This record gives sequence, structure tokens and C-alpha cells, in this order.
Amino acid sequence: MTGTLTIIGIGPGQADWIVPAATVALDAATDVVGYQPYLDRIAQRPGQKRHASDNRAELDRARHALAIATGGGRVAVVSGGDPGVFAMAAAVFEAIEAGEPAWRALEVTVIPGISAMQAASARIGAPLGHDFCAISLSDNLKPWEIVQRRLRAAAEADFVIALFNPASKARPEGIHQAFALLRGCKAAATPVAFARSISRPDERIVLTTLADADPAIADMSTLVLIGSSETRFIERPGRQPWLLTPRTYGAGR
Ligand SMILES: C[S@@+](CC[C@H](N)C(=O)[O-])C[C@H]1O[C@@H](n2cnc3c(N)ncnc32)[C@H](O)[C@@H]1O
Repeated sequence: MTGTLTIIGIGPGQADWIVPAATVALDAATDVVGYQPYLDRIAQRPGQKRHASDNRAELDRARHALAIATGGGRVAVVSGGDPGVFAMAAAVFEAIEAGEPAWRALEVTVIPGISAMQAASARIGAPLGHDFCAISLSDNLKPWEIVQRRLRAAAEADFVIALFNPASKARPEGIHQAFALLRGCKAAATPVAFARSISRPDERIVLTTLADADPAIADMSTLVLIGSSETRFIERPGRQPWLLTPRTYGAGR
């Protein structure tokens, strides 16, 4: 008997930001595979087995899920945010590409989730209203020189830049180097947002500028947004400003 594998995005935190199709797939799953903090965010259904693994063991987790599905399980692999953005969907397809021929015959479905990038944007206005790019600052899976090259290119192309994985205990310096690089090629007044733990109880948003930003406040729960030359604050008396990147480029020049 062949099972199924569903890769599910559980969004950035709050339960009502999980799409209904994800809940249906979780209800139907015999086995749920994921990083423990993500498993902790979803209710365990009666009779359902859970398979927790370490955060950096994505490929092993993917292979384990594929093996259970090949054995007949209805497997749900849970991933934070959207599973296609720096997450488990790519790990599963990498495992399939390099793995057992039988894995290619499995029914694999990806259910999207709200990415941290979209969640942060929603909290602060419309910073992604024009062209943008997303860069992971983690150098676990790529050389740091590539990160620097992409930051320079993104600044040169005047994209809004969403920085994922900005810092960890093992990599405290990357975010400082990234800000030093960006300060060398973008205006000091460029708006910057540090969006931490969006839609979780410890959510915190800091809006500032490239010149004034303290990169040390970014951690692994933070999404950092760096504006383009068009991004601006809409000030509001006594309240957090909104952040806007208008849809039209160069209209005010
Ligand atoms: C491995 S990436 C996973 C991204 C995820 N698949 C997504 O679509 O948001 C983890 C990074 O996403 C960002 N992130 C995830 N959840 C977040 C949240 N609730 N608030 C702010 N940033 C978050 C942080 O930059 C974190 O280091």
C-alpha cells in the first residue's frame, strides 16, 4: 500500500493564520513529522504518531517522512511559515531527487502557509508593494561570499530586501557585516523594520533607519526588512508609523 505525503505550512504563529486545507490534512494524517517547536504549535489528533527532529536535520526528516509514506502512512510534514520559503518543501524534493525510485511514485502535496515576510509586511503597512527579494543570511548551506554578492546586487537593483535567518548564537556577526555592507551602498535614511516573533505572544516591531538601526536586536525569530529608495514612513501622531513602498517606481522624482 502506498501512502501520501503532505508538506504543510503552519504560518508564522497565530492559529487562525493557518489555511483550512492545512487543518484538513493534519486531521487526516496518521503521522506528523517536524521540528519540535512546530509540532508544539498544532494539536495532536487521537491515534496520530509524532516524529520530532532537530532543526538542522531537514534532509533526514524528509527521508524519514518519505519512508513512512512509502510504507503506507498518510504523512504530514509541518514547516513554519510557507513550506516553500527556506523550508521543508525543498528538503523533501531534494530527498526525492537523490533517493529511492519509489519515492517518485508517491502522491506529494504542498499546502502553502503565510510566510514571515508576508506576516511582517501585514503588521507594518505595505513595505512589499513593489519589487522585493528575500535573502537568507544563514551560511550553513551557501558560502558567505554569495550572501555578500546578493546583498550588493539587491541594493544595486534597488529591491526591498527581506532578510531571513538574520542571526543565531553560532552566527552573531553576519547581520553586522550585512548592515555594514548595505550602509556602504544605500541611503542612511532608508527605512528598516525588525519584525520579531510576528503573530506570537512575544511579537515586537522596531521601525528605524539604516543609519540608526542596531543590528544586534535581530535574532533567529526576526525578519528584517530593508526598504528601497522609494520606501517611506507614513507618520501618525502618537502611533507606530506605517511603512509604504508604493506600486509606482520613480513617480515622485
Ligand atoms: C528557516 S526560515 C523559515 C521561513 C519560513 N518558511 C517562512 O516562510 O516564513 C526561519 C526564519 O524565518 C523568519 N521567521 C519565521 N517566523 C517568524 C515570525 N513569526 N516572525 C518573524 N520572523 C519569522 C526568521 O527570519 C527566521 O530566522
